[in-house]
Amino acid sequence: MRLHWCIFSACAWLLLLFALIDRFLSLRYARETEVKTPGRTQSFNQSSAAPALAEWEAVLEKRIQLLSTVCKNSRLRSLTHVPISKFVLDRIFVSDKHNILFCQTPKVGNTQWKKVLIALNGKFSNVEEIPEKLVHRHGKNGLPRLSSFKPQGITLRLNTYFKFFIVRDPFERLISAFKDKFITNPRFEPWYKHDIAPAIIRKYRKSHRGGDRVASGLHFEDFVRYLGDAEGRCRMDRQFGEHIIHWATYAELCAPCDIRYDVIGHHETLERDAAHILRRAGIEQLVSYPAIPPGITRYNKTKVERYFSGISKRDIRRLYECYQGDFHLFGYPTPDFLLN
Ligand SMILES: *[C@@H]1O[C@H](CO)[C@@H](O)[C@H](O)[C@H]1NC(C)=O
Ligand SMILES: *[C@@H]1O[C@H](CO)[C@@H](O)[C@H](O)[C@H]1NC(C)=O
Repeated sequence: MRLHWCIFSACAWLLLLFALIDRFLSLRYARETEVKTPGRTQSFNQSSAAPALAEWEAVLEKRIQLLSTVCKNSRLRSLTHVPISKFVLDRIFVSDKHNILFCQTPKVGNTQWKKVLIALNGKFSNVEEIPEKLVHRHGKNGLPRLSSFKPQGITLRLNTYFKFFIVRDPFERLISAFKDKFITNPRFEPWYKHDIAPAIIRKYRKSHRGGDRVASGLHFEDFVRYLGDAEGRCRMDRQFGEHIIHWATYAELCAPCDIRYDVIGHHETLERDAAHILRRAGIEQLVSYPAIPPGITRYNKTKVERYFSGISKRDIRRLYECYQGDFHLFGYPTPDFLLN
């Protein structure tokens, strides 16, 4: 007990000391910048820019710390740890020219990051020049997958390159995958509507009596029931093959507890995160991230509520059970408004 108090008071004194030193240094810094820059507004600008940068670095550092804490949580272990399999190595793209590894997490703005890396690798001089079709043809676009290297080459790159990936709210991502693959399907991938949707409907639609049936297309409710059925899905997912990357968890895609990533970007703060990723990867002078239309990356609770309305709490809770690893690993709050 006494020992605890000793340690506690020692810590308190240390904190106080650091606070004093910090204050002293920042006063000096402020005075110096005032001396160097004649205009008052300018000195204000300079001294406010530097802390903002450091502040965001701290945010990114906290994310990595949280990840490492959650990775140690044994209750979530089955949802957070995955072997570094070929499936994972297929998700990771390589820039050997700049020593960068990027793990792809579909429905999180990855096409733009791939373009940035393709431009970096030198086949095109800037991001705008890259034809849309080429972005996903990895044999041809100069952006190889990590799985295409020999085992020693893979280990070397994993140990030494700058590694990052991007996440967003897990449920919003599922909504985006559902819309993109089963409603709009802009890239003309007929197998989603013609093979995968009917298979899910047959197994998971509650009432497919009468004329309604398969023809009416997949409902979000069917999709939620399928995703929440952790065991029952296994066989189907093997049949669906790689197409499941659009709704596989971030943990399954990128093995974040088994590969030490340097930065985890959040879609919701993409503008700030992108700038930091480029800086940390040492490429900020070479490329820039394409402009982000305002508001597009913001979390939209209304949309999430609307999609889940009418779906039973039991089904939503089962879905959450399957994706809670992702919520915890990346600091997204539990969506209580859907679960209770
Ligand atoms: C502060 O800096 C930004 C660029 O970082 C610039 O656009 C802005 O005009 C500056 N503001 C003032 C008051 O100097
Ligand atoms: C959020 O989603 C709702 C429903 O889809 C939509 O009407 C609204 O415009 C969205 N809000 C924003 C800020 O994008």
